[in-house]
Parts: sequence; C-alpha cells; structure tokens
Amino acid sequence: MKAIAIIPGSNTLALIDRPEPSLTADDQVKMKVLRVGICGTDREEAAGGRAKAPDGIETLVLGHEMFGQVVEVGKAVTRVKPGDYAVFTVRRGCPTCIPCGMHRNDMCTTGNYHERGIWGLDGYQSEFAVDQERYLIPVPAELADVGVLAEPMSVSQKAIDAALGTQRGRLPDAAADPDWLSGRRCLVAGLGPIGLLAAIALRLRGADVWGLDVVEEASTRPQWLKTIGGEYINGMQVKTTDIDDTVGEFDLIFEATGVASVEFNLIDALAVNGVYVLTGIPGGDRPIEIAGADLMRQLVLKNQAIVGSVNAAPGHFRIGVDDLGRAQNKWGANHIAKLITQHHPYTDFQAALTEHAADEIKVVVEWGA
Ligand code: BGC
Repeated sequence: MKAIAIIPGSNTLALIDRPEPSLTADDQVKMKVLRVGICGTDREEAAGGRAKAPDGIETLVLGHEMFGQVVEVGKAVTRVKPGDYAVFTVRRGCPTCIPCGMHRNDMCTTGNYHERGIWGLDGYQSEFAVDQERYLIPVPAELADVGVLAEPMSVSQKAIDAALGTQRGRLPDAAADPDWLSGRRCLVAGLGPIGLLAAIALRLRGADVWGLDVVEEASTRPQWLKTIGGEYINGMQVKTTDIDDTVGEFDLIFEATGVASVEFNLIDALAVNGVYVLTGIPGGDRPIEIAGADLMRQLVLKNQAIVGSVNAAPGHFRIGVDDLGRAQNKWGANHIAKLITQHHPYTDFQAALTEHAADEIKVVVEWGA
C-alpha cells in the first residue's frame, strides 16, 4: 500500500510502498484511512526534527491525527463493525511504569513509550491501519467531516482537564462547583487548531474566552473565534506584558503558541489563584530574556499554578468527540468544518507538509476515495 514516509533526521519525504497490514490477533481492527491531519509535529519531523523510525528500518510513516472507516474486525472486537467510523490514538505505553499499567500512556514516566507516526512506530499516512480495539475511539457518522480533529481536540481536552484538576485540588470553590468554568475569564494564546479547539471546549462550558494571536482581526482565525462568542486580542498591538492592563487578568490561560518568550511572559496576565496550562512545544535553543523576578514574585504572592500537558488519554478523546458533536449543534456543522482550511490529495504530500498558508487552520491529507 502507499504511505508517506520520512527518513528521520533528514528532510527526505517520499511516497513509499509498505506491506498492507492485516489482522494478526482477535482484538484488532483494520481501518481504511480516510484522512490524516498535519500539525507542527509532522512539519518538524519533515524538516529533520524529532522523529524515530521503527526498530530495524530506515523510514517512518508519518501521521498521528487519523480518521478512518472500519473494514475488518477480529473475533473479540465488540465496539465497532465494518462501515463504522473511528480514530486510533497516538501513544503506546511502556511495559514497566505505573501510569502505563493504568492505561494512562500519556503520563508515562520512563519515556520508553512509542507514538504512531512520531516515535518508533509507523503512523497513519497510508491507505490502511491496524491496531488493537483498546486504542480505538468510535466517531459517529454525523461527525465524519470533522472526525480528523479528534486527536488535536484530545490534546486540548487533556490540557483543560489538567488545569481544572489543578484548581480542584487547591481551591475550595473549584472543588465544590462542577461548573467552575462558567463565567470564568479564559485566555487562549495562539489561535491554531489546538487553541481554537480549546476555545470550543471552554465556550461549551460557559467560559468567557479571549483569543490572542498576531494576525489582523479581520482574518480567518479571529473571525472564526468571534463566531463562537470569543473576543480577539491582537498581539501585534498589545504587548504580552500589557494584556492585564488592557483587557484584564485571566483565571485560566491556555497556551498554544510554542513561542518560549510569549510562554513565559503570559504569566503576567494571570489573575489571583489563576492556572496556566501550556501545550506549545518551542523549538530552538536561543536564550531569551524575561523579567524573571517579577514573574516569580507574582506567581508566589498570587497563588498561581503552571502546568504542562502533552498527548491525551482515551477519555480525553471521548470527551473531545462529544464536544465536536455539541459544537456542531450549537454553531452549525459548517462552521466547525471551516477549521479544516486545506484538503490535499495524498499525492500532494510535499505541499501539505512543507507549505504554510497565512490563513490556514488545519491542513489535512485525503486518502479516501
Ligand atoms: C501529538 C501528541 C504527542 C506529541 C509529542 C503532538 O503533536 O499530538 O500526541 O504526544 O506531539 O510527540
């Protein structure tokens, strides 16, 4: 079968031939891949960054944001049948640590995990994929157009969950109120897919959402956010450290910029008892200058918390899929589908992985007929 692969550590990108996978155990599911999303991680891999091929081979099939249709199931599979839509998750746990033993591969402590399409296991940029049912999340047919957003949505959901869990563990009001987010001031920094999907989840829970980016207010991403009731902060006009004086402080900050200096300076916009969750993974190793004493003084004197978040558990995928459905009902399927701004046929993989349009939100590669 055809697959899009790289030689890790290089920028050699090619359409290759891989043997078509078939079921080898009763608990496995085979899917026809319909489309696969591209994110910063894929582009970093395609540019020679962090990636690892499966043991014993030179190439790695890319792709971890998959959406597919079941074509065959093993005898022990109970949750899906041929014809159903679903996604496979990304991370496979290590054999030894406690979180992996508890099916929380996303919290692996040894680092000996694998990630499909990223670290040691082929990804989903290919015609077919096989994996165990325990790594499968069903997607209702009504969500077929946006099911490919399930993986980035799971990343946003885990980060919000981490922020809320932090607050519940230390604030009496957050512990007592399941609707704690309702009416809270939330800042989403970086209006890419992760940020906008987080904005969906926060708006669905009644939060007041401001989005920060460095594009014109009239452009696609700020306008998309405004349609779901968010406000826009133009980072070309407001310095990160002036956000608090201009629009006020925030109870929750969700970071998805991947820009280290912005990530540090955003602490300044946090309210008393605020929580700040980071999902951006900055590249490079250039030192940056920050007002360290100011930021740390504030963090302590205002009881603030900072938490990093990567990957997601199956539960975050499930909540994410539910939220995509609720979002379609609330703002219209058309509006949610507009998050996918570019559809490339798989033959156009080079452009999909290397070109970056100014107005893009999610770029996907199409494998389905
Ligand atoms: C993926 C995560 C993965 C992380 C680190 C992200 O792009 O969405 O699932 O854990 O990269 O490899």
